[in-house]
Amino acid sequence: MQNARITLARDRRLGAIDPRLYGSFIEHLGRAVYGGIFEPGHPRANPAGFRADVLELLKPLRVPVVRYPGGNFVSGYHWEDGIGPADSRPRRLDLAWRSVETNAFGTNEFIQWCHAANTAPMLAVNLGTRGIGAARDMIEYCNHPRGTHWSDLRRRHGFEAPHNVRVWCLGNEMDGPWQTGAKTAADYGRLACEAAKVMKWVDPTIELVACGSSNGTMETFGAWDRTVLEHTYEHVDFLSLHVYYAKKTDTAAFLANSLHMDEQIRRIIRICDDVKAQKQSEKQLNLSFDEWNVWYHSREADARMAPWQVAPPLLEDIYTHEDALLVGCMLITLLRHADRVKMACLAQLVNVIAPVMTATGGGCWRQTIYYPFLHASTWGRGTALDLSPRSENYHAPEVGSVPYLDAIATLNDAEDAVTIFAVNRHLSDSMQLAGDLRDFPELAVVEHLVLAHTNPEAANTLDQPDTVVPHNRGEARLVGGALSATLPPLSWNVIRLQRR
Ligand code: AHR
Repeated sequence: MQNARITLARDRRLGAIDPRLYGSFIEHLGRAVYGGIFEPGHPRANPAGFRADVLELLKPLRVPVVRYPGGNFVSGYHWEDGIGPADSRPRRLDLAWRSVETNAFGTNEFIQWCHAANTAPMLAVNLGTRGIGAARDMIEYCNHPRGTHWSDLRRRHGFEAPHNVRVWCLGNEMDGPWQTGAKTAADYGRLACEAAKVMKWVDPTIELVACGSSNGTMETFGAWDRTVLEHTYEHVDFLSLHVYYAKKTDTAAFLANSLHMDEQIRRIIRICDDVKAQKQSEKQLNLSFDEWNVWYHSREADARMAPWQVAPPLLEDIYTHEDALLVGCMLITLLRHADRVKMACLAQLVNVIAPVMTATGGGCWRQTIYYPFLHASTWGRGTALDLSPRSENYHAPEVGSVPYLDAIATLNDAEDAVTIFAVNRHLSDSMQLAGDLRDFPELAVVEHLVLAHTNPEAANTLDQPDTVVPHNRGEARLVGGALSATLPPLSWNVIRLQRR
């Protein structure tokens, strides 16, 4: 048995949690759109072709914003291909994913799907093969009320009211050599600045995200971000971060990856603040961690995938219990930086490295990673509180010292409920957690949810969808301000406390 301690105090506020921390992502990639959210002819499809069974699984996740249409896809996308009568839309080669894009689903269908899913769109413009003109036309089509070529075309397409898309991404991963039309930092910075300026001329109310480094291991990490911000600082609202982790050796090393994520965020914040100082700006730049997840199970199969198929089953990672634990640690990391990470997108939402999977023509199920995301999105709202977790550490290569306990708390807006999220990274030992909660004498335990499994590689499938599911038989107790709870080995825990 391991021992660990936490302290809950009202004045240890890390930051207000923007609900958009629980965003997600749908790309024209694999079966995310076709056979995922959109499948006309499916027995559960609604008249618009949206799968109602998928919408039902997504609803509890309360995803406030969904990024679209890419990802790598957007860097070669002609948004005009996806509007107007569906039967006259062109089929195109999608070079990003070596697939054929039918364009049966486009911007208007996505906006309608967002209404059905009770979420908001976050659209990306193509700054790979295109530029300021296409971005300007697209925002005029989406957001301008009426009386111009593009806004009246939208109205003729059946959308009288503007879509009012609030958040726009200025391209995607433009530092990546895998990108159609990758750029140097200076070239991208100039282009993003001009596109931002013009897009805000069309609609000054929008928020813009500039592309930061594609991940923390890029050779140009940091330098790219600094140069891009030197060009765009006063014109954009967010800088993007992306990361995907893979299990390269063992579970212990894999679970240590959230410490890399923490460091990535810290380094980018320092750069944003340096540029702010250099420019003597009054403005604070926030972060949009708009792609994050575990991604590795499908890589080999994808490398063998025949090219130029419509909606091939790409990036269909089947997630394990240990993947859910790392996703839990990544959520804790995002919450720890709630003061600056004001948007984040779990990449992605359906079929493609996703919490929800479907069988084309068949059913759908929740992957293991669904659960930590569900819990955090449900109860991780309000204000993030530091718990100063203290536990034994272990050593992981490339990271160094890693605490067995990862934990954070959130205080809801009414200040009558606190939720503790905690991961026990130990492979074989339970952890006896002791908490000093004397600062919250009015609280009582509502429930203690636990996601645990004896096999770290256990997964859910269409036929066995409930192999890894949480239970609420955790035994957290609170007596006289002293919390005690047992966290099983390799477990995700949610301890819910409410005013008596
Ligand atoms: O989410 C999958 C891909 O990962 C995205 O298209 C790209 O932006 C990133 O490299």
